[in-house]
This record gives sequence, C-alpha cells and structure tokens, in this order.
Amino acid sequence: MSTTSVAASREHRVTVRTLAARKRRGERITMLTAYDFAFARIFDQAGIDVLLVGDSLGNVVQGHDTTLPVTLDEVVYHTRLVARGCRRALVVGDMPFGSYQVSSEDAVRSAIRLVKDGGAQAVKLEGGVGVAESIARIARAEVPVMGHVGLTPQAVHRMGGFRVQGRTQDERDRVIADAEAVQAAGAFAVVLEGMPAELAAEITSRLDIPTIGIGAGPACDGQVLVMHDLLGLNDWTPSFVKQYADLGAIAARAARAFGEDVAAQKFPAEEHCYKAR
Ligand code: KIV
Repeated sequence: MSTTSVAASREHRVTVRTLAARKRRGERITMLTAYDFAFARIFDQAGIDVLLVGDSLGNVVQGHDTTLPVTLDEVVYHTRLVARGCRRALVVGDMPFGSYQVSSEDAVRSAIRLVKDGGAQAVKLEGGVGVAESIARIARAEVPVMGHVGLTPQAVHRMGGFRVQGRTQDERDRVIADAEAVQAAGAFAVVLEGMPAELAAEITSRLDIPTIGIGAGPACDGQVLVMHDLLGLNDWTPSFVKQYADLGAIAARAARAFGEDVAAQKFPAEEHCYKAR
C-alpha cells in the first residue's frame, strides 16, 4: 500500500477525534463488545463505531460469575483477534482486574501491552477519583483512555453485588465526582454503567467528553451492549438490554438438525463428498 492509500484508508477509521466531534454535533456513538475475528468483522462492516474487547469475556466467553479472574494475557489475546477483523471501528482493550490497581507504573505497562501486543487503539479502565493518576499517566504515554464509572463490575465485592449506583445522594455525588475526575485526568470518553437515567443525563451535560451508557438511559452520547446480550446468546437478559436477535435458538436448531441428519445418514450427501480424479 502506498503512503497515500494508507492515509486514505485511515481517514475512514473512527478515532478519538471522531468521537469528540460526534458529541459536539449531537450525533450518537455505537459501541459493542467483541472477542474474536468473526464477530469483529461483522460488527465493523455493520458500521459500529467502537469495538470493546471487554473483560466481560470472563462472563460470556469463559463462564465465570465475575470478571475478576480475567488476565491481561487473555485480553491481549482476544484484542489481537478483534483488531484483525476491524478496518473502521476504534478497538478498545479493557484493562482487567489486577492490571492497573497496584500502581500507575503497572497501569502504563499494561496499557502499552494492549496497544503493542494486542493492537488496541485505546484502553478502558474502571474507577474514578481513585484511578485518576493512572489515567493521566497512561494518557501521557500517548495511549487514549476510556473511563468507566457507576456500576463497575470489578468492584463487585465493595458494592456488595452488581447494584445500580447513584440512587442515594451520597452515591450520586460520588459518581459525579468520579466522572469529573476521569475527564480531568485526560480520558477521551467515559462509560456510564448501571445508574438512574437522570443521573447519566446530568453527567452527560456536565462533561465535554462523550459518555457511553449501558443501563444508564437514553441521554448518553452513545450506547454500548455486550454482544451476547444483543444477540441472545445468554441464558437470561438483564432488564436494561434490548435483545436484537435470538442466535442462541438458531444455533440450537442448527445443531439439532445436524445431529438428526448424521443419525439418519443424510449428511454428508453426495454433493458434500470429494470425487476421485
Ligand atoms: O467488559 C465489558 O463488556 C464492559 C462493558 C459492559 C462496558 O465493560
């Protein structure tokens, strides 16, 4: 590829500047999680703006009850698969529990690994005031950072479960302070998860950076869903989710039909067989 065509293909890429411009123009941002090449390519071609390699992979790919066991190596691996399937969307690697809490040096090192080994163009981490220094250090290392406040799944034990945040005045003040700290530290966007819609609306109007909501109502600058929820691949769907397809049922029907065809010796049929020359 010539330098001109490299530059031309980059023009179509969603970047942190694209997202900032969207907020200024009042145009909504779309984000989905992805964990592999096949779905990354489908979502990228469908025009989704941001693909997040979420640590939710601990739940939906690995089958854990929480995201806590997910390792940096695992996120790096899945980020690599997603980056390979993406031409347009911004690829964000999620920083798993333990990869940034000990020190801001650790945080910078982990963020750089996600970019260098995973091919991420940005990273995301959970928390507000308590991680502001790490956000600032990562941003100074030229890695764009997305914040994540409100219901932060890595804090499940502190929160006493996966509880909506910001329903009391104290919690509300804390969530606002967290969102403002994330912006002040240099994040380019922030996920607002699991909070009353009117609190997310207030944060969205206070901040200059885009907010991307999940279980946070319609006023956010963008929306994100976990792909397994979008596509109906889980056993249950949380109430804030709109399920857009029932791939679980389609996959089960296909697997049953395959089993029946094999049992009845209908597959492979003649058209599925190689011929001798
Ligand atoms: O890990 C994840 O999938 C996330 C989204 C829910 C925002 O953090």
